[in-house]
Amino acid sequence: MTQQPFASAPFRVGTSKPIATADHIPAEESLCPVVSHDWINSEYKHLIVDASPKALDVKPGQFFNLLCPSPDEGELWLRRPQSVYRIDRERGRIEFLYKCVGRGTYGLATLERGDALNMVGPLGVGFSVDPAWKHIVVLGRGVGLATMAPISQLASEAGIGVTAILSARSPAFVMTNDLFAKVGNVISVLDSDGTSAVENVEAILQALIAQGHADAFFTCGSNRLFQLMKRLGKAHGIPGQVAMEQVMACGLGPCYVCVRTFEVNGKKELRRVCIEGPVFDLQEAVGW
Ligand SMILES: Cc1cc2nc3c(=O)[nH]c(=O)nc-3n(C[C@H](O)[C@H](O)[C@H](O)COP(=O)(O)OP(=O)(O)OC[C@H]3O[C@@H](n4cnc5c(N)ncnc54)[C@H](O)[C@@H]3O)c2cc1C
Ligand code: FES
Repeated sequence: MTQQPFASAPFRVGTSKPIATADHIPAEESLCPVVSHDWINSEYKHLIVDASPKALDVKPGQFFNLLCPSPDEGELWLRRPQSVYRIDRERGRIEFLYKCVGRGTYGLATLERGDALNMVGPLGVGFSVDPAWKHIVVLGRGVGLATMAPISQLASEAGIGVTAILSARSPAFVMTNDLFAKVGNVISVLDSDGTSAVENVEAILQALIAQGHADAFFTCGSNRLFQLMKRLGKAHGIPGQVAMEQVMACGLGPCYVCVRTFEVNGKKELRRVCIEGPVFDLQEAVGW
């Protein structure tokens, strides 16, 4: 039997034919035409690309390692990880929501409609939901909101209600409320009016627990909010998941750049965020 190549060239969305024998490999390198790429406030961009069938299999909480163009004359080494923000399977598109913070993301920001984004993925372990849950609580801050957004898709597909507590500096940085509003309640807490204080968020979480609206906790983007959810989850026996963000190199497991400490049954364990995460059990994660 003739062997098909394992991986010889990136999958070009719109022109390449899927290789049937590569079905067992969950991730691939693909070249994805940019459909739109807009600033949504002074720091964040929303990127939509046409994606390959394999990329469209991405699960909420998984990520792609993006080859960002250089923003200047210098070389740009290593890919940059970005979680999927929205999966539009009907139109065959994947969306990212990202904050411009350094050379990689400023380089990414230069891509224009019609350019090709080179991405590797889907990578890592995503979120999971238990169909027995009736209502979950999602708590995110900053870029963490982009990672949490597709939980609204996952929950709605499983018929689970969501309360999303979105923490941000000011109203301009609460970007994902429309996605969550489709499947549940959105509570914005802001630095600008003081409502993002941990004591206030704790009072909101305690009220949701008392109403029986907290079958599980999900969080990303803030260490102090993670610590709060972990404490309340432990006290009330509520299961939870946290998406960790960690500087990465390969994104595939061999380089060990992304190792973090976890605590399992009282013992410290080292795990790679790229391949054993980025989503972990809330009680096993130690924070950052
Ligand atoms: C699994 C995963 C999913 C992510 N999803 C998103 C997302 O959906 N949207 C988004 O805006 N960002 C996301 N990030 C963060 C994103 O990868 C970094 O912002 C990006 O790599 C920075 O690259 P840079 O070259 O622009 O900045 P750099 O010049 O490399 O760094 C600028 C600043 O960003 C910090 N930084 C660099 N890499 C990371 C990292 N991997 N995680 C956290 N902080 C970092 C640096 O410490 C520094 O303070 C994600 C990170 C991970 C690991
Ligand atoms: S980034 Fe290389 S092992 Fe995780």
